[in-house]
Amino acid sequence: MHLAPQHTEVLDAGPAPAPAGTAENLRFLLTHTLPAFVRGFVNPRPAVVKAYAALDQPAWSAATLRALRARHGGAPVLLRGISGPMLVLLDVQDLRQFYREPVRALAMDPPDKNNGLSILEPTGVICSHGELREDRRRINDASLAAERPVHPSCEPYLAVVAEEAERIRPRTSRAVLDTPALRGALHRISRRVVLGDAAADDEQLTDWLYVLRDEANWMGRRKKRTVAARAVYDKATARIEHYAATAPAHTLAARARTHPDPAGDLDPVGQAHHWLLALDGLSGVAARTLLLLASHPAEQDRAAADAAAGGTALPQLRACVRESLRLYPLVPDLLRVTRAETTWRGVTFPPGTAVLVPAQFHQRDPEHVTAADRFVPGRWLTGDATGNNRLAPFSHGGGRCPGENLGLLVTTAFCAEILRTHRLARALPALPAERPLPGTVDTAGIRIGVVPR
Ligand code: HEM
Repeated sequence: MHLAPQHTEVLDAGPAPAPAGTAENLRFLLTHTLPAFVRGFVNPRPAVVKAYAALDQPAWSAATLRALRARHGGAPVLLRGISGPMLVLLDVQDLRQFYREPVRALAMDPPDKNNGLSILEPTGVICSHGELREDRRRINDASLAAERPVHPSCEPYLAVVAEEAERIRPRTSRAVLDTPALRGALHRISRRVVLGDAAADDEQLTDWLYVLRDEANWMGRRKKRTVAARAVYDKATARIEHYAATAPAHTLAARARTHPDPAGDLDPVGQAHHWLLALDGLSGVAARTLLLLASHPAEQDRAAADAAAGGTALPQLRACVRESLRLYPLVPDLLRVTRAETTWRGVTFPPGTAVLVPAQFHQRDPEHVTAADRFVPGRWLTGDATGNNRLAPFSHGGGRCPGENLGLLVTTAFCAEILRTHRLARALPALPAERPLPGTVDTAGIRIGVVPR
């Protein structure tokens, strides 16, 4: 790497990237990398999340990143990552470049991340690169209707959401909605949206997929188990293909099935592994959104009015879902690897450099985000938040989530179903509205008291 900066760019851009010292590397390892590994990158381990909520673990990582930023004047800092050099981006001008770089140069599949994800979706777009990646991204964009605010299968999907919400709708006057109930409902929605009603009851398939996700948490470091997981992947894939063969046209699998695959190397239906992962993850998003609404009565009233008004847009409630994702992102770190030389503030780094955006840190950065630790859904209604590179629950640029609109549609509609008939009352864990919100919540332990409207 050429650490000699090109002076004009450096002067324009502020201090040049600098290597971290030994103590900084150690601190980053202990407060950020190791805790993230122990938590699990793909399927967060509930017991660890509960412990981190009690210990306020995100605050350790945020303190480290703030100290790095202060010492290096906001410049990207070159740390020793698990698999080699890693540039950590701490300033918005570098975030802008991160999102501007083409995915060919700043690839989505760095070895660490890919070692994990390839266990559960070896042919998924996020594990692919080069021309193959571009082709698979097109399949994802088309099936998920990434560019359309409303998915063409919106009607049948909303019918599925309504039916599944009805199955768990509390029947007694004072009842509790908890994470296991929400998970069960969202898993059924996930299977029905991706594979069709024939898969609605197939909990065995979801169990297999969770075995793979748990293994992926180890990032391929348990070699024998990684090999053994291949048999589970094969079983799950055969089951997905079985449903996909006769899935009705509105399902995601059917939309993928019709995609041309002239050379037979694209595996359009295989993209369903990621879609099931992402849709299953919506139960946590819904649980945290409802928890936040239970703790913020004025926001709940606004969201409930939105839900009562009906329609698919539900802007107020949708803003609540986005705000819950800002506070508690599904993807707390965005990790890439360079596949060509890249230049940051005039310093050129060789291919193979990992680049990290600590997204959760930026989204909660009190130095740059107004009311960073408060639940303020309104920020998403003005447009200020949507175009802000510091706030990236769905990422930005070429790697931006193609399932954003679909994920928001499903989560918002699901929460609306609950709010239409019930008021959210006392909830656990308690999130007093007058105090800054904690960095993480024990999602598995969420319990919300509900009262009929
Ligand atoms: C509301 C919940 C969701 C959030 C917060 C979310 C967030 C993200 C983020 C941050 C990325 C970039 C990951 C990275 O850079 O490593 C991503 C990628 C992706 N997401 Fe989502 N996502 C959500 C829902 C969905 C849904 C519902 C689907 C599909 C059914 C989906 C499909 C994908 C795919 C295929 C990619 C990989 C894109 C690529 O490699 O170009 N996501 N998502």
